[in-house]
Amino acid sequence: MTSDDQKRAVARAAIVYVRDGMRLGLGTGSTAKHFVDAIGEKVKAGWRLTCVPTSEATRKQAEGLGIAVSTLDQTPQLDLDVDGADEIDGDLNLIKGGGGALLREKIVASSAAKMVVIVDASKRVEHLGKFPLPVEVVPFGVKATAFKIETACKSLGINPAIVIRVRNGKPFVTDNGNLILDCACGRIDKPASLAVALSVIPGVVEHGLFIGMASVALLGSDAGVSVLTRKVP
Ligand code: 5RP
Repeated sequence: MTSDDQKRAVARAAIVYVRDGMRLGLGTGSTAKHFVDAIGEKVKAGWRLTCVPTSEATRKQAEGLGIAVSTLDQTPQLDLDVDGADEIDGDLNLIKGGGGALLREKIVASSAAKMVVIVDASKRVEHLGKFPLPVEVVPFGVKATAFKIETACKSLGINPAIVIRVRNGKPFVTDNGNLILDCACGRIDKPASLAVALSVIPGVVEHGLFIGMASVALLGSDAGVSVLTRKVP
């Protein structure tokens, strides 16, 4: 099975959490794209779903499939959010934002009664941090903000390499008009502490640590799809 086969398998398996009439958050990325395709099939079959996309790319895909697209202003409370991730640990803590959509992804996930994460096997890690942590920042004072992020990381024993994300030779600009700092942290021993430390830095709009947000993860592998459930303390 290729990783794309695994992504398609977990995306299709996530349909079991969807019911006719639900208000849904639609994630962003290649795994979420398969889920949106599957939702499109349900809509064609007559299901009535109200969907809030987490990016302009997902909005365009959903509209192209005839899915009723809403906004959080129109639909502030969602029943379910289904999204991919760049890394997931055993507590279902995540790194997200590889596609640059982390801010809307986090707002949408936090507006949903349940978040289901869909990932291929390569995303499962013992410790978060191999994937560079995306941090969305306002363009004003970006170097000063990067310095503060570095200082916050160092206070937790992390020595990050921080770069402004570039695509096609230009700084990558998010759907919200901001920049992304990719922070190569290495092993993050205390993701919840790092999340708090990053959140209070002026200029940081949001970071890609999703702590305690996902309740279920569907993990693809050659053997099929397995379900991980977050243990609530
Ligand atoms: C986008 C994300 C994606 O969920 C994450 O990058 C995983 O993407 P893919 O499903 O393409 O592997 O956080 O901001």
